[in-house]
Amino acid sequence: MGILKTQDRLLSGRAIPDALHQSFMDFYFVWANECSDHWKSLRTLTRSELFSAKALEAQSNLRNEKLTQMLDYLDTMQGKVVKIEEVVFTTLFNTLSNLLFSKDFLDLKDEDGTAHSMKSGVLKIFENAATPNVSDFFPMMEGMDLQGLRKDCLKQLNKLATFWEKIVKERRAGIASSGVNKEKDFLDRLLENEFTNTQIDMLALDLFSAGTDTVVTTMEWAMSELLRNKEIMVKVQEELKSELNSNSIEKSDFSKMTYFNACIKETLRLHPVVPLLIPRRALETCDVMNYTIPKNARIWINVWAISRDPQIWEDPHTFKPERFVGSNLDFRGHDFEFTPFGAGRRMCPGLPSGVNSIQTMLSSLILRYDWVLPNNEDPTKIDMNEKFGVTLQKEKPLELIFKHKE
Ligand code: HEM
Repeated sequence: MGILKTQDRLLSGRAIPDALHQSFMDFYFVWANECSDHWKSLRTLTRSELFSAKALEAQSNLRNEKLTQMLDYLDTMQGKVVKIEEVVFTTLFNTLSNLLFSKDFLDLKDEDGTAHSMKSGVLKIFENAATPNVSDFFPMMEGMDLQGLRKDCLKQLNKLATFWEKIVKERRAGIASSGVNKEKDFLDRLLENEFTNTQIDMLALDLFSAGTDTVVTTMEWAMSELLRNKEIMVKVQEELKSELNSNSIEKSDFSKMTYFNACIKETLRLHPVVPLLIPRRALETCDVMNYTIPKNARIWINVWAISRDPQIWEDPHTFKPERFVGSNLDFRGHDFEFTPFGAGRRMCPGLPSGVNSIQTMLSSLILRYDWVLPNNEDPTKIDMNEKFGVTLQKEKPLELIFKHKE
């Protein structure tokens, strides 16, 4: 609370890792050095165009279409082993690519491996940013890139940007419009606001990287926990069946799903996907709880440890959604013992979109399929080891066989 509320303004800078190019410093969103005018305009524009309730409402047809494509694809994969992270990643990536550029960038079948390579590219950027780097510890080595992390980040960015370069060029030249129904997409808004190509590249990169892996990983942890905890899964299934019509799931339906929502919260408590938040930087020297934080110090907030603190949580290592039932405790940045999306000025702006994606995908998968582990493995023995990075991955990806419910 001392950092995220009392001193939020003075601690609202970010320390940009050397792996990310300083030359793009003025264009970053997630890694914006401070809450500059450009950062403010990005927050305002993304809220109104992508994340507000009105924007989410306007996206519902597109989101349903992408969800249906995912389910249709899984129907064709019945009886076969599916890596759930890859299917969810492609679905989210295409949802975002349509919102931004009115085009699918990936194919669920992924016969040429592009989706797989994009997923590892997005992850690689996070990994490079989190890797201990001599250039971050010894400023005289700044930019020397002895570990090749910068070079690799630029390679990943260029790989991603090839998806939209041609679209941006054609749109600027006025020889193409956003889509069949000519509704304006996010790129149209950026061009109206006179964004340069570099600004567009960096914003798209930030949105694809912050908005896909976080949701994919949370889905994987949630599904693993539900598989391991059969009684909880049965309760969720009963609630969903009694409250939802699987043929047309509306965003507003989820407000009634107390137990299902509690499961999502409990997943984010036990497996906060950004375990140390994104590092803050002190803009000025200031005090937090009688400690002096010098100007430019980096601040890491250990949400993972807070979420498992026995002084705050009863039986903290157990997956117990009940703890959130009948409780007002929420992740919207007011309860400082539970901040998987951060809090204050730099809090995640994509929260409504991320939560909505998890709700719709998870509920559909629960309602439509029985989930079976390959070789009939015992679900209570699922490997729950974590792989640490800017995001907290599941070390062993979850593989499942989906069987259509009778
Ligand atoms: C389960 C889903 C998600 C989780 C848990 C999550 C978590 C976070 C966290 C912890 C931060 C840093 C907050 C801080 O420093 O206080 C963050 C920042 C951010 N997130 Fe998310 N996020 C999720 C989904 C999304 C989605 C779907 C998008 C966009 C499509 C998104 C876009 C961003 C952006 C742009 C920032 C940087 C904000 C800033 O620095 O001003 N996130 N997120």
